[in-house]
Amino acid sequence: MADKLYIFDTTLRDGEQVPGCQLNTIEKIEVARALEALGVDVIEAGFPVSSPGDFNSVREISKAVSEPVICALTRAVKNDIEVAADALSSAKRKRIHTGIGVSPQHIYDKLKSDPDSIVERAVEAVRYARRFVDDVEFYAEDAGRADNEYLARVVEAVIAAGATVVNIPDTTGYCMPWEYGAKIKYLVDNVSNIDRAVIATHCHNDLGMATANTISGVMNGARQVEVTINGIGERAGNTALEEVVMAFRCHKGINIDTSIDSTLITSTSRMVSNLMNMPVQANKAIVGRNAFAHSSGIHQDGVLKNRENYEIIDPKDVGLDESSIVLTARSGRAALSHRLELLGRKRDGEALDAVYEEFLRLADKKKEVRDEDLLVLLGESASEGKVKAEYIQILSGTLVPTATVTLRIGDNSYTNTHTGNGPVDAAISAIKEMLAEKITIREFLIQAMTKGCDDVGRVHMQVACGERVAHGFAAHTDIVRASVEAYIDGVNSILKQID
Ligand code: KIV
Ligand code: ZN
Repeated sequence: MADKLYIFDTTLRDGEQVPGCQLNTIEKIEVARALEALGVDVIEAGFPVSSPGDFNSVREISKAVSEPVICALTRAVKNDIEVAADALSSAKRKRIHTGIGVSPQHIYDKLKSDPDSIVERAVEAVRYARRFVDDVEFYAEDAGRADNEYLARVVEAVIAAGATVVNIPDTTGYCMPWEYGAKIKYLVDNVSNIDRAVIATHCHNDLGMATANTISGVMNGARQVEVTINGIGERAGNTALEEVVMAFRCHKGINIDTSIDSTLITSTSRMVSNLMNMPVQANKAIVGRNAFAHSSGIHQDGVLKNRENYEIIDPKDVGLDESSIVLTARSGRAALSHRLELLGRKRDGEALDAVYEEFLRLADKKKEVRDEDLLVLLGESASEGKVKAEYIQILSGTLVPTATVTLRIGDNSYTNTHTGNGPVDAAISAIKEMLAEKITIREFLIQAMTKGCDDVGRVHMQVACGERVAHGFAAHTDIVRASVEAYIDGVNSILKQID
């Protein structure tokens, strides 16, 4: 059986320290629940003494989440510890995370102190925290730049004082992977009571080494990793949860695993990115938009023959439906044929050759050829189907968004009025009630074609009816109308599959 690696998620503490990423308590509870579903072992919910908002969030998360341990950060200061204990009072399983700087830089320049006094303060803080909770984690801040012999002395003293977890942060992201691994090994080999505590890694990404350093720490004996969703965090960020989890899943031979349900990684990543207004870079490992996208002809052909030719992770394992083949001027016939088939417009032989010629001409002019472009290439226009919108009227602004839509379905006309949380929701809800089939929206993308408020909005929707899936497209200067028409286009494609 694989050795268990504990996942300590600090998205709501170190991640939330990023300027512009602050969440309110309700949003933090939403994230905490998603982290619980994901299967993290510990949620660092905040730094209660830092503000009444943080205190309240730790308190509310402690009530809302029951499975993971809820952890609160403190400095090695009595009042911080008392406030943290108070904020955690409702938590089913609680931990206080206290600590102090241990590098020469922190000891002399930040704390204006000396090594012996720092050991005393560390021990005192851990002992004090143990009065309130059984589970106390000690962080040796800036351990990455600390002298290993001194670090071992501090770690041994805090374990003797009752620390259950010893956290070895590379606070400034300074270490090289072998150096950080050696630091952990030094502690394993030289701290006499190390078997009484779990060693934790906490790496920052200033040199782009956070994941490598974390893995190196684990390979040398750490069994807790401190991570954030999408790697968000101070400056260049923290170690990304998804990278560590999938690295060990991909390398089963290492025999280390976590309790994470990896199929929830993509949805959790998107939720955090949306709530925190932090877009994920397109080429970000595991969760970037392009992490499973193939654009060159050779790669597309290889992936279509066997996904594993160019992918080490099955996209389904991280909660994505499938890898995406991006159609560009470098795409080959295999990729075009595959996409046409997905759109229900299969072409073979000469018919495929003819479309491919036209496709290449278009691809030379555009960066990416989208599904709606292909439909135009095939001489089809959207919404030629059984269902047509004859009339759309929307009321929105400061009023409750309300839509009235008249649909022609075959030979009959139907009108319905519905409210919604916005004009698009109101209009689509009105349409849904008039359809015999339950057709839901799986994906909804609105893009501006150029820039400016008179721009055309291009809408792409993926809709589903049971097992049947279809794409709908439309473009209009009125984005509500474009959304309605894209939905109807998808509905018509589904109805064609049913007929
Ligand atoms: O990076 C760091 O050292 C920290 C500690 C407070 C754990 O975030
Ligand atoms: Zn940190």
